[in-house]
Amino acid sequence: MGKIRCAVVGVGNCFAGLVQGIEYYKRHPNEEVTGVMYEKIGGYTVHDIEFVASFDVAENKVGKTLAKAVYEYPNKVRWTDSVSCCSGTVKESPILDGVGIYVENMIKPIKQTKTVEQLKKEAIEEIKKSGARIILNHLPVGSQKATEFWADIALETGCGMVNAMPVFIASDVKWAQRFTKKNLPIVGDDYKGMIGATIVHRTLAKLCDSRGTKIDKTYQINVGGNTDFINMLERDRLQSKKISKTESVQSQLSKRLPDDQIYVGPSDFIPFLGNTKLMFMRIEGRMWANIPYNMEVRLEVDDKANSSGVSADALRYAQFALDKKVGGPLVGPSAWLMKHPLKQFSDSKAKELAEKFAATGINAED
Ligand SMILES: NC(=O)c1ccc[n+]([C@@H]2O[C@H](COP(=O)([O-])OP(=O)(O)OC[C@H]3O[C@@H](n4cnc5c(N)ncnc54)[C@H](O)[C@@H]3O)[C@@H](O)[C@H]2O)c1
Repeated sequence: MGKIRCAVVGVGNCFAGLVQGIEYYKRHPNEEVTGVMYEKIGGYTVHDIEFVASFDVAENKVGKTLAKAVYEYPNKVRWTDSVSCCSGTVKESPILDGVGIYVENMIKPIKQTKTVEQLKKEAIEEIKKSGARIILNHLPVGSQKATEFWADIALETGCGMVNAMPVFIASDVKWAQRFTKKNLPIVGDDYKGMIGATIVHRTLAKLCDSRGTKIDKTYQINVGGNTDFINMLERDRLQSKKISKTESVQSQLSKRLPDDQIYVGPSDFIPFLGNTKLMFMRIEGRMWANIPYNMEVRLEVDDKANSSGVSADALRYAQFALDKKVGGPLVGPSAWLMKHPLKQFSDSKAKELAEKFAATGINAED
């Protein structure tokens, strides 16, 4: 098998977790790779993933080698002291709407002197020169314009895309058509963490629903201590994240809950939590003879270990699609790995579709 040559946009904490995890397994070759769904996808293992181009806006990351930038503040992941799957230096991306008001002091964006058009030309040259075939989008929540900029670059450079965050590209009909037209694969949008709040909440909601009980109301609140959480304090940046998280749960119910009976949201930033994310979920409902019941779940996970296995799977599906010359949103992988795919399925059906795609290269709904 060849290598999976990727470019990353946003050399943040999620990316640090992905590449330090790959390094961890490289240094522990006899350990089972946990936290990915499959050892091989399309014949690829996690060791086939490499990053040959990278883009950011932070003054302490741009211009550094990618292997060094991964450890720069405010990134918090420290699982290995070096990484070997990264090459090249971090290049400048246009800031656009990437940096929110609460993270500005932590990220310190470079002063930009080049126009967006100049940066676009340079980005296209860099991607072509590096031989990257997939763009991994790890921009902060609320980066609508910046994500669209990079989706355009994917289309112009003939790259596939993995969209880890909640700006709707794979799940937006117009953008999806553009990827289909160019026969380029996209997996998106917005990671469903491996054992994250969303998958736990949707699974339990589906259980209550399919066991014939009536869910009356439900909430899910999340707290964490990294830049993703501080950025999400800015409510204006959150619109698509809230839609992505809420619809992911609603999609599993036979009848939608009224909007005022479901609350799903990232809710607060607690600095000392670091990359630990806490989720609190409650479902209230009724069963036989209208007798009420409720359940509460508290989930504690490392936010970045939770996202990195999903990255490792999504990138391998995207590369397999490139190998098979399959373009457009990947139906099964997007539904299985992402909160907001173009089309939602139950998780068992999504898994079946993703596995069928990996076995046959057929990108279909049934
Ligand atoms: N479990 C998870 O961690 C999880 C799950 C689902 C989705 N996500 C999403 O993944 C994304 C990345 O999360 P993270 O924790 O790595 O965030 P982060 O804040 O640690 O990293 C974001 C990086 O993007 C850079 N950046 C900002 N504006 C930019 C621009 N215009 N161009 C290029 N780079 C720019 C920042 O400098 C920073 O390095 C977020 O949108 C998050 O919501 C994460």
